Amino acid sequence: MATKDIRSVIDGFDQARSLMQDRAGMGQDFAQEGARVQGKMRALHPKRLKLAVSDVIAETPSSRTLRLTCDDGPLPPFLAGQYINLFVTVEGVETARPFAISSAPQERDYYDLTVRKLPGGFVSPWLVEGLQPGAQVTSTGPMGSFYVNPIHHGDDLVFLAGGSGVAPAISMIRDIAATKRPVRFHLIYGSRQADDIIFDRELADLDAAHDFLSVTRVISEPDEDYQGERGFIDATLLERLCAPLAGKTVYLCGPPAMNEACAGALRAVGVPDKRVHIEANGPPVDPTLCPGWPQDLQADAPVTVTVRGQGSFETQVGEPLLNALDRAGYQVENACRSGECSLCRIKVISGEVFNPSEARLRQSDQKFGWVHACVAYPLSDLEVLI
Ligand code: FES
Repeated sequence: MATKDIRSVIDGFDQARSLMQDRAGMGQDFAQEGARVQGKMRALHPKRLKLAVSDVIAETPSSRTLRLTCDDGPLPPFLAGQYINLFVTVEGVETARPFAISSAPQERDYYDLTVRKLPGGFVSPWLVEGLQPGAQVTSTGPMGSFYVNPIHHGDDLVFLAGGSGVAPAISMIRDIAATKRPVRFHLIYGSRQADDIIFDRELADLDAAHDFLSVTRVISEPDEDYQGERGFIDATLLERLCAPLAGKTVYLCGPPAMNEACAGALRAVGVPDKRVHIEANGPPVDPTLCPGWPQDLQADAPVTVTVRGQGSFETQVGEPLLNALDRAGYQVENACRSGECSLCRIKVISGEVFNPSEARLRQSDQKFGWVHACVAYPLSDLEVLI
């Protein structure tokens, strides 16, 4: 059916067009109106934000909160739990990483990003050690589906956090405290040692001040005199602290290994997957441990990636394709870097790729050779189209 025919069957289309023609005849400029609406849409959903680091707040020996402001006025609104993707140049490599906003959505003058330095990491050490007030950065607008949905998630919420995975939790807690929404929120926060706990003082104060909140710290390598919960967040601890779990909604945000272990523990205590919301946190740290990885293939095995019509570069099978493309100077749009948003979709023309479960590929993508480059690993020499 031609476009004209489709429009003519839309209820009210002809009447609206006729009304617009009448108004235009009387001097109303619909181009101006369209530009005004588009301007508002761009302000709410910008493709890129130019931000300045206004403050760097030390949280723990290995983590900092970066306070980011924008000279162009109030920042776009977001829902507590969402992230922005930060574009940076580290050692001459243009790359990006997503970070959850830790400030409350009621704060429109700045976004706080709370970053923990990952041992062996590429971007997080640079952000924690190298970024000073006054530095300029670019980001996407807020994105992501990891937020409290009051209609579907109910009013009894549990958040399992690990490391800097507490960032979206503190934003949710600050939001609930500000809006006084009638919910219960139990944060169970795992850390290696007591001085790794981010927002420890604020969490204690909020816990004491608000009935809706309870905070449990779980330390895996505590000092001898530590009095709280020890070990890891597992099925036994969940049953002891959260029973009955029926009807509760659980949010999960930590390192990939913790997310996987906690998801298994939640299944073991009978929480259905649909009640569990997991914020993916980057590609698997060691893909050779993922189910389906070819036996005996070492992560440092070399491969060549050819970008059709543009050139070739060397990488290793254990490096996500997107990281390798960044390093070689090829730009691919991206946001979540965790297999969720599909922005980094590229086509594999030839060669073999490992897609871990994080990839969340549609069946049609798998059939026609599309992959999410952020969580795809080149198992052989490849040719790709970007
Ligand atoms: S960047 Fe979102 S799926 Fe790869």
